[in-house]
Amino acid sequence: KDQLLTEAQKVLNENFQKGGFTIPSKNLYPFQWKWDSGFIAIGYAHYDMNKAESEISTLLDAQWDNGFIPHIIFHTDTDTYFPGADFHKSELHPMSSKKYRSTGLVQPPVLGFVLEKIYHISKDKTRSLEFIGRQIDKVFHNHQYFYQNRDPLNEGLVYIYHNWESGTDNSPVWDGIFETMDSPEYEFERRDTSHVDPEQRPTKREYDHYLHIIEIAKQYNYDDQKIAQHSPFLVQDPLFNAMLIKSNESLIRLYTLLGSNDDKIEKLEKWQKKAVFQMNNKLFDNELNAYIYYDLRNKKPIRSISSSSFTPLFAGIPSKEDARKLIDTLISNFGGDDHYLCASFDPTSEHFKPKKYWRGPVWINLNWILFKGLKRYGFEDIANRVKADSIELITQNGFYEYFDCRKDVISSGNGAYGGNNFSWSAALIIDMLN
Ligand code: DGY
Repeated sequence: KDQLLTEAQKVLNENFQKGGFTIPSKNLYPFQWKWDSGFIAIGYAHYDMNKAESEISTLLDAQWDNGFIPHIIFHTDTDTYFPGADFHKSELHPMSSKKYRSTGLVQPPVLGFVLEKIYHISKDKTRSLEFIGRQIDKVFHNHQYFYQNRDPLNEGLVYIYHNWESGTDNSPVWDGIFETMDSPEYEFERRDTSHVDPEQRPTKREYDHYLHIIEIAKQYNYDDQKIAQHSPFLVQDPLFNAMLIKSNESLIRLYTLLGSNDDKIEKLEKWQKKAVFQMNNKLFDNELNAYIYYDLRNKKPIRSISSSSFTPLFAGIPSKEDARKLIDTLISNFGGDDHYLCASFDPTSEHFKPKKYWRGPVWINLNWILFKGLKRYGFEDIANRVKADSIELITQNGFYEYFDCRKDVISSGNGAYGGNNFSWSAALIIDMLN
């Protein structure tokens, strides 16, 4: 255990940059990514609070005037990543940061619960509460941005307008949407596939769709209302909304600790009530016994089961009874004895691809969310299995980005994929071991 902790710290420390933030992985991801930074801060909090705080403050320094927090902050000019700042052109949006170039996309809103986690880990509560006091309004402003701009039907559920916003980039969930799109064949040079085996990354055609959605958003200068009207991709995602709900809950508790923020607590409670209700009302599928997706553009549910389908446990969303049903689905579809938990996409589906990024491989951040969620509902055995599987995958292979869920492939030594020395794999193993 001590050796694993030392190695994990080494991964984080080596990915730490002079600018005070941490890259997800050398070569493949040379900038600051939003949800990565959140998970990374949790790892640092266990042994270097300065770095944990710096991770959050550098990210929030790039917040836009409307509360938006971008998914990538291009701190440097390197052209080793595609698509970079010159493609995204966040400066098209009138309220974008004047200090940093970024994307005009978001990523799952993890910062609320990350701040609370830092507070719990901290041995110096006074210091941490002061730090949280300096940052919390920015996170609140971000939640307000979501509810005001990304919930056109005023349902309490927010939309994402790009698969990169989901965090689960090439999940089969999006395939049907791409089929409705008439994306041109763009000419561009990918950089990811020169660092990682193309078999483990999205295809060229998928990248055409990814770029096409952004081109449309750029035509409208990243205006949210226009995007809601015109984007071919407009989805209510269970993971994204569960992270927002979990973060609402943390903000309520942190504001209570800080005192005198009743107006904000009141707003958060209002959002929260509506959101939890609609998650269960609209996104829980009573036949599949899992949370699913809703395609707002094409006005229909997307009835797929992925690891995101179980993340509402982390936010306390399902009733005890529905939680039980979720676990049954998890065990029957994902939990075979020859499988590590938890595949990112339903292994019983014909679209499952065990090597391909978010079409099947196990990701440590989703495992961490699942582990916490299962514990919250008292499913200790399966929670411990998720934790043990995560530790075993890392111990046997190193701190890779994602892993094959098939035990025979892992034991043959070929099941570790994507970038090596991947920051959140290290950060969240540190948290699971503590
Ligand atoms: C990538 O480049 O694949 C990233 O996941 C985008 O956020």
